[in-house]
Amino acid sequence: MKTLTSPQVMQRQSRRWLREGRRVVLVPTMGALHEGHLSLIRRARKRAGEEGLVVVSIYVNPTQFNDPKDLKAYPRTLKADQQLCRAEGVDAVFAPETLYPEGASVEISENELALSLEGEHRPGHFAGVMTVVAKLFHLVQPTEAVFGEKDFQQAAVIRRMIRDLDFPVRLILGPTVRESDGLAMSSRNVRLKGRLREQAAVLPAALRLAKEFGDGPVANLKRRLKRLMEAQPDVSVDYIEVVDAESFRPVRKAMRGTRLLLAAQVGPVRLIDNTGL
Ligand code: PAJ
Repeated sequence: MKTLTSPQVMQRQSRRWLREGRRVVLVPTMGALHEGHLSLIRRARKRAGEEGLVVVSIYVNPTQFNDPKDLKAYPRTLKADQQLCRAEGVDAVFAPETLYPEGASVEISENELALSLEGEHRPGHFAGVMTVVAKLFHLVQPTEAVFGEKDFQQAAVIRRMIRDLDFPVRLILGPTVRESDGLAMSSRNVRLKGRLREQAAVLPAALRLAKEFGDGPVANLKRRLKRLMEAQPDVSVDYIEVVDAESFRPVRKAMRGTRLLLAAQVGPVRLIDNTGL
C-alpha cells in the first residue's frame, strides 16, 4: 500500500491508472477511521475487483468546519488509519498536508438542497465539502466514489454536484454502521465521555420512535421526538425535520419516501443522524 502526500504525484498516478483502463474507487474521509468508514472501504474493494484500485483519502478539510474549536478537537490518527487501510487491502492512501494554495478564492456552492438543515445550521459547511470533494475528484480521478448514508444531506449535495458539473464519477452510498445501542459511529464519538455517551443513545431511540409513528402529521412527530430527546439533561436539539428524500423540501405528513433528519448537541459534541420512514 502506498501513501501519497503530494497532490501532483497523486494526479500523475491516477492519470496512469486511467490510461491503463483500470477502475479507481475513492473513499473520501477525514480519518480517525472507524467501522463505518471500514464498511465503505470494503464496499469499494468489492466494486474495484482485483484489477481495480481503492484509494482512501484522509484529509481534515478546514474549509468545512464552521466552528474552529471543532476543527481543533477533531481526532487525527494517521498511523492507525494507515494500518486499518492496509488490512482492508487498500491500494493507496492519499493524505495531503494541505489542498489549498495560498489565497485560494474559488469555491463551489449548491443553491437548493444545501440551504436547509446542516446548511442552515453550519454556514459555509457544504461549500467547503463540495469544494474539497471536487478537488479530490480532480486529483484522484475516480470512476466511482463511496459515501455514507450517515451524512445523508452531504451525499445528496454531492450527487447534485456530480450531475450539474458533469463529473464522470458514479456515487455509491453505504448504510450507516451503528454501535450496539444504535448510536451511529462517528469520529466525534470519542469525545462523548461517561454519562454523555449514555445520553447520546437517545438519538437512535428517537429514530426508532419515528419509524413506529407511521403516517401522521410531522408537527406531532417533531414535538414528541424533541420531548424525548430533551428529557436528557445534556441534550439539546438543533433541528428535527422530515423532508422529501429527493428534493429535501419539508413535508407535512410522514410517510414512505420521506426522510427524518436530526441534529443535536450532546454536551460539547454535535451529532447528526437520519432514517427513512
Ligand atoms: P468523514 O466524516 O470522515 O466521513 C467519511 C465518509 O464516511 C462519509 O461518506 C460519511 O458519510 C461516512 N460515514 C461516517 N460515519 C459513518 C457510519 N457510521 N456508517 C457509515 N458511513 C459513515 O464526510 C466526511 O468525512 C467529509 O465531509 C468528506 C466527504 C471526507 C469531505 O471532507
